[in-house]
Amino acid sequence: MKHFINLKDIPTKDLRKIIVDAKKRKNLRKNLSTLEVDKGSPLKGKMLVQMFEKASSRTRISFYLAIKQLGGGTLTLRSNELHLGQGGESISDTAKILSTYGDGFMLRTDSDKKIEDFKKYLSIPIINGLSPSSHPTQVLSDVFTAEEIKKKPISKLNICWIGDSNNVLDSLIAASVKFSFKLSIGCPKNFEPGKEVRAWVKNNNKKIFIYNDPKKAVIGADVIFSDKVISLNDKGNKKKKIEQFKKFKIDKKLMSYANKDCIFLHCLPRGSEVSDEVFLGKKSHVWQQALNRVHVQKSILLYCFGNLR
Ligand code: CP
Ligand code: NVA
Repeated sequence: MKHFINLKDIPTKDLRKIIVDAKKRKNLRKNLSTLEVDKGSPLKGKMLVQMFEKASSRTRISFYLAIKQLGGGTLTLRSNELHLGQGGESISDTAKILSTYGDGFMLRTDSDKKIEDFKKYLSIPIINGLSPSSHPTQVLSDVFTAEEIKKKPISKLNICWIGDSNNVLDSLIAASVKFSFKLSIGCPKNFEPGKEVRAWVKNNNKKIFIYNDPKKAVIGADVIFSDKVISLNDKGNKKKKIEQFKKFKIDKKLMSYANKDCIFLHCLPRGSEVSDEVFLGKKSHVWQQALNRVHVQKSILLYCFGNLR
């Protein structure tokens, strides 16, 4: 049984296989409408249970479409509607029940430990739909989008991240090790990636480049990624944090230091980290990026269900 929890724990050849499958499937359904099922209905009769402990628009809708397009169905739960969320039922019993009724489980949670605990008791695959330390389905899809738009393997691209050291960046760092791409990070000194993440990169004989000057980080970039300065799990002084990120705002001027054909990507939702001009401008491909989550998550589901050829 294959889980999809952290990119760093999944073999690169499997991640590449998922991307290749997604590309094929996306091409094959050019003339199909939203809910039409892929030829062969590969996940016919299967049910994905998705549970959200935190807000979600894209992850929820894109997983719904992904399983539908493969011939299966989904049930979306909020943890506070379950006995689990009310504190009346254990993770182990809940996991057994989910495994009895469903075929796969996607969880968005504010606890990495909870994912591990569920994994222990589930007899169906679990997919991490965002946790404090990782957003793997987003970032694998972002690798797909960068390659699709730039028409090059990501290992040949200079990738830049301007923003907080959060779950999306942690997964992007994992991707940079797995797919061997150069990653330059621009953030204030006290928001740099943690020691553990840096040590893991070093142990894998790779390097990330960290700059406290946004201009230096974007020089030579082919793709600039960003995310909200304030994440769902942020508990500190939000006003102060936004202030500290002020000079890291991605505007037309900052984009001008990157390569001429540099593109802008953002997982959404957005805050004040990017100007409207850039976000809605020609270099931005954020809507295509959001749509690609459907395509890549279909192949992630096939991987987890053991149907990826
Ligand atoms: N990018 C992303 O995961 O969006 P949601 O929080 O809306 O799911
Ligand atoms: N870093 C953000 C990503 C949202 C998709 C958060 O965790 O809220």
